[in-house]
Amino acid sequence: MALKALMAVTGLILIAFLLMHMIGNLKMFLGAEEFNHYAEWLKQDLLYPFLPHGTFIWLFRAVLLACIVLHMFSAVTLWHRAAKATPTKYETKKKLSQSYASRTMRWGGLILAGGLIWHLIQFTIAPSGPSPFVGVRDTFQNPAWVAFYLVWIGVVCIHIRHGFWSAFATLGANTSAFMKTVLNALAYLVAALIFVGFAVMPVAVLAGGIQ
Ligand code: HEM
Repeated sequence: MALKALMAVTGLILIAFLLMHMIGNLKMFLGAEEFNHYAEWLKQDLLYPFLPHGTFIWLFRAVLLACIVLHMFSAVTLWHRAAKATPTKYETKKKLSQSYASRTMRWGGLILAGGLIWHLIQFTIAPSGPSPFVGVRDTFQNPAWVAFYLVWIGVVCIHIRHGFWSAFATLGANTSAFMKTVLNALAYLVAALIFVGFAVMPVAVLAGGIQ
């Protein structure tokens, strides 16, 4: 139960990060100066002068990394326990076929993690272009990158749809048929919002709407 709660809490923190990241990306619509200024502020000036220049981003990254590691650790440990608790091969197969959602979460989680490693290399570790705005804009002038990101964000949002619901159920919010309907609707809403919020900017760049 503690591991499930850990998975739920870290997952919800990661969803909150995604909502902030999505809003930040939408600043591409405000133009080069606004976007570059925002990127600089995030990396250098956030919480300055309470913290020295450039410190907050590393604290933030440490928390984010801890959440990702703990989330994956709890998922893998729970998965391992469930497999061990099932005595025969036949039953393992049967159990897996019954649990569509958990299978999607495992494969979805792996694709999500693989895409994230690539995403970090592309935009954080080895960014291209003379500024964040130009790097992002040039990337999405290539339809292949837009397609890649749309598919990846789609996988992320399928993961979020089930994860959001599951996290609140674990934390005790699924208390009645009404609450079940509310949580289900909220899960679809959050997943759809994140999909559209992330997808709209790359598509706009490709369509020539962001120069
Ligand atoms: C169209 C979709 C997306 C775009 C255009 C985008 C863009 C970017 C850019 C430009 C950066 C670098 C920020 C910088 O170092 O200046 C970044 C960092 C990052 N992105 Fe994304 N992103 C997208 C979707 C996602 C998704 C779906 C996830 C998670 C599943 C994600 C997770 C991250 C993380 C963890 C970082 C590193 C943050 C840091 O350096 O502290 N991004 N993204």
